[in-house]
Amino acid sequence: MAKKSLVKKSCVVNTFIGATILWFLLGSVLMHNLISKNHDIHEIKHRIRQNHSKQQKHLKTPQEQQVDPSQVRLEKQQLNEEKDKFQNLAFDKSAYEPIEYENDERTLEQKEKDYNKLLDELDEISGGATAKDLTCPPPLVPFQNIIRRNNFDHQDRIPKILHFTMPSRCVPQDISRTLQRWHKELKPYSIFFHDDAAVAKLLSQEWKDFPLLQDALICVMYKGAMRIDIWRILLMYKYGGIYSDIDNWPRPKMKPEAIRTDLSAWFLTDYNDHASQWFIAIEKNHPIMFLTIHKIIDNLLWLPSLWRIQTVKITGPWALWNAYFAFLNGKGLSRAEAAKKMIESGNPTDEMNEQFKDNEVWTGMEDKKIIKMWNGRIDYRQFVGNKIGYEDIVPHPFNSTLNVTRGERIDLESGIIHWRKVSYHSKFDMKEKGIKIKLTCRQYIDNVKTGKMKPVELI
Ligand SMILES: *[C@@H]1O[C@H](CO)[C@@H](O)[C@H](O)[C@H]1NC(C)=O
Ligand SMILES: *[C@@H]1O[C@H](CO)[C@@H](O)[C@H](O)[C@H]1NC(C)=O
Ligand SMILES: *[C@@H]1O[C@H](CO)[C@@H](O)[C@H](O)[C@H]1NC(C)=O
Repeated sequence: MAKKSLVKKSCVVNTFIGATILWFLLGSVLMHNLISKNHDIHEIKHRIRQNHSKQQKHLKTPQEQQVDPSQVRLEKQQLNEEKDKFQNLAFDKSAYEPIEYENDERTLEQKEKDYNKLLDELDEISGGATAKDLTCPPPLVPFQNIIRRNNFDHQDRIPKILHFTMPSRCVPQDISRTLQRWHKELKPYSIFFHDDAAVAKLLSQEWKDFPLLQDALICVMYKGAMRIDIWRILLMYKYGGIYSDIDNWPRPKMKPEAIRTDLSAWFLTDYNDHASQWFIAIEKNHPIMFLTIHKIIDNLLWLPSLWRIQTVKITGPWALWNAYFAFLNGKGLSRAEAAKKMIESGNPTDEMNEQFKDNEVWTGMEDKKIIKMWNGRIDYRQFVGNKIGYEDIVPHPFNSTLNVTRGERIDLESGIIHWRKVSYHSKFDMKEKGIKIKLTCRQYIDNVKTGKMKPVELI
């Protein structure tokens, strides 16, 4: 099944389809070999060969369908060389060592003290503590963290904390309105706002549960969407609470009582009836977040090309979706075993999704209970809507004789029209920076680490 996902990955590089498909499939052999010693490589090769003719059906032109055997041999040889070269980079075994968790034997007082410490730590890491006197050029509005103390409930597994991010704490007036609205609907919740500096700070921390994370991050060249995808999962893993995209808006059912904080995780339904990646309510140190990061790291490290990375599949909702099912199907497995099984088995199917119905509590690994709530029809979201009112006509922020949509006003005020929306690396950017289409993530990491290439950062 991992082959299947690799085949999908191969679509990333259209230009070399004919030869590269086989190359990628061989890559999957390498992957299997590295993460699972027990796999019979000959059997896999045989299956790949059988399926190779099937794959050719999807190729575009008759020329592209031709696979030159000498070319294949050459690529196979290159692959073997690469395998040697990356032996040291290969899956660090410690990434899959089971983690021991102590029982929580803290007293209630201690728990409350720890909770308040957590609020202080979040104020610090989000940059709120040093931004108390922040002023912003109008129409931008400063956002100060909202910290609700004295509402500690020892029955909460998911802390009553909302997290948002945007590059700066000086937010457009419409975003300020959104944040105030969340505050109004979820009064008992603290709200922490993480700017770009806060995001960078969290990402650069030492993550001992994810020893290959810093390597994998080398292949994330864009500051935008991919970094935020990874950051949100790390943040939830470390602190828990609720992550929401900044363009989300609370809908009628979004009340404090609606979010089951006694569960270990509470998701909403995505457009595909998958667990939402744009709204995650979860306790800290949850296996779903642990597995999502491992999936992302694996996806990144095995990128066959740094061109046109499909964010959704590599760092986005697909990674969470894989982790969600690995968690539900991983009862009795250690985190290490579940991660290994997830990476080997590829994307879940629709049947698997239907099996775990919405609005019902399901138990997964470590006996943790989770729920995924139906978020309503696209034209009537019940808990969380996206870009609500963004089509409204509003005055232009800098010219009172003009009107724009609210969405345009947000873009104009933040001056970052394409901020965090980039999902494909432009091949022109890549070429300019000397990134060849055939350069794999691992080769790039190696080049950066040995000083052969300067790390590339793109906005
Ligand atoms: C070939 O690929 C299909 C999916 O495309 C998969 O269902 C099937 O099991 C594969 N065959 C072999 C022999 O691996
Ligand atoms: C406002 O927009 C109008 C119409 O485009 C333009 O003629 C005018 O110069 C603008 N005013 C300012 C202050 O930019
Ligand atoms: C802008 O919107 C206001 C209120 O809807 C309207 O009265 C005005 O004519 C509009 N201005 C332009 C330039 O479209």
